[in-house]
Amino acid sequence: MRKLKEITPYEIENAMKLIGKDWMLITASDGRKVNTMTASWGNMGVLWGKNVCTVYIRPQRYTYEFVECSDHLSLSFFDESYRDALKVCGTVSGRDCDKLARTGLTAATVDSVPIISQARLTIICKKLYADDIRPEKFLCDEPLSNYKQNDFHRFYICEIEKVLVAEES
Ligand SMILES: Cc1cc2nc3c(=O)[nH]c(=O)nc-3n(C[C@H](O)[C@H](O)[C@H](O)COP(=O)(O)O)c2cc1C
Repeated sequence: MRKLKEITPYEIENAMKLIGKDWMLITASDGRKVNTMTASWGNMGVLWGKNVCTVYIRPQRYTYEFVECSDHLSLSFFDESYRDALKVCGTVSGRDCDKLARTGLTAATVDSVPIISQARLTIICKKLYADDIRPEKFLCDEPLSNYKQNDFHRFYICEIEKVLVAEES
């Protein structure tokens, strides 16, 4: 694994681009296994006096089960050369195949939290709050079209505990 250097949350690049355009892997462990999935919905900001990020996970994702039973998760961001790996992790379920073996990605741990070794930027997150998107709470109808199967995301507001960047080798 490349050497990791800790930076502050204030040095994280534009979150809109990182999450929405580059995409990320959300990785968690159930204590025995690790699972990861691609996500492009999420946000970063400040809440309760803490630097936080929020991720949105539909209940049918295998990753949901891992995130539910873990206090922590990690977010991983990659160079463009990993786009195909992110596509695999965003279309195949860990229920059906070993996504890490299939993509050549490897897991490691930081402070016992699973991370993906090839990431150029890793954020270690501690879950603070979880709730489900509720249809009756929408103030306009347009976003509801994302939930034709009633698979409303559970969102996790997480404290950003550590931000790590891979050092150039
Ligand atoms: C670009 C991209 C972004 C995605 N963003 C999300 C997301 O934010 N939340 C979510 O629940 N699923 C998202 N997905 C879908 C999951 O990554 C996909 O269903 C994955 O296969 C789930 O794997 P799992 O069953 O091993 O958890 C996204 C997929 C892609 C390709």
